[in-house]
Amino acid sequence: MNTPTLMGYSLRTMGIPKELISWWTFQMGREPHMLGESAERVIETIEYAYFFFDDNVPIAASGLFGARSKTKECLRFEGTRVVEVGSSVVEPTYRGRGLGKRVMKECVEKAWERELLPVGVSSNPIVHHIFESFGGLSMDDDQRYQELRQQLCLCEQVSPDCRLCPLAERGGWIFFPHARQRREYSDFHGL
Ligand SMILES: CC(C)(COP(=O)(O)OP(=O)(O)OC[C@H]1O[C@@H](n2cnc3c(N)ncnc32)[C@H](O)[C@@H]1OP(=O)(O)O)[C@@H](O)C(=O)NCCC(=O)NCCS
Repeated sequence: MNTPTLMGYSLRTMGIPKELISWWTFQMGREPHMLGESAERVIETIEYAYFFFDDNVPIAASGLFGARSKTKECLRFEGTRVVEVGSSVVEPTYRGRGLGKRVMKECVEKAWERELLPVGVSSNPIVHHIFESFGGLSMDDDQRYQELRQQLCLCEQVSPDCRLCPLAERGGWIFFPHARQRREYSDFHGL
């Protein structure tokens, strides 16, 4: 394997090439932890994406998507617009080499840079491990996130089979720029 090359794409400034979206939706369509997304749906909601390439061939991706309620309103938490880190996927032969973690972390840091609040929704324990490794907090652990968690659920009725259920145990995650400090502050003040 060559050294993979990382590329970031902003929808606002350059768009994302169609062939990359096709590769991405194909990968998502065959994964049990992901909802098969159409190319139109990805283009409609994506704001930023990171891809890894090996010799110009895409091998990993993760995106930042504007988080919206069932009624299509932009979600906010404590005044900050919420974005979802999602559709993270690595081509099977390239897994376990740190690419998945890197693209997700880049997305979280891009959101912070833009003063947005990143959240994540996943039923995959590998993703939970990755989120925790860069400061993700499970929404299970704090009452203050329960309203946001409800809003992130797009089902008509909560289903235990949903692969993208923020209400499932460890299904919803939130990333503060200084998560550890915030947790320590909350513990200290008994919040
Ligand atoms: C989830 C996914 C993106 C992870 O990508 P990856 O490149 O294989 O993961 P990484 O190599 O970056 O691994 C990051 C961490 O997860 C751990 N990990 C990765 N695969 C693992 C596995 N199969 N079992 C246990 N731990 C695993 C690594 O050990 C590493 O931990 P560390 O940082 O403590 O050493 C990839 O497995 C994938 O594409 N899965 C299918 C699609 C999917 O489910 N996406 C998530 C939708 S929400």
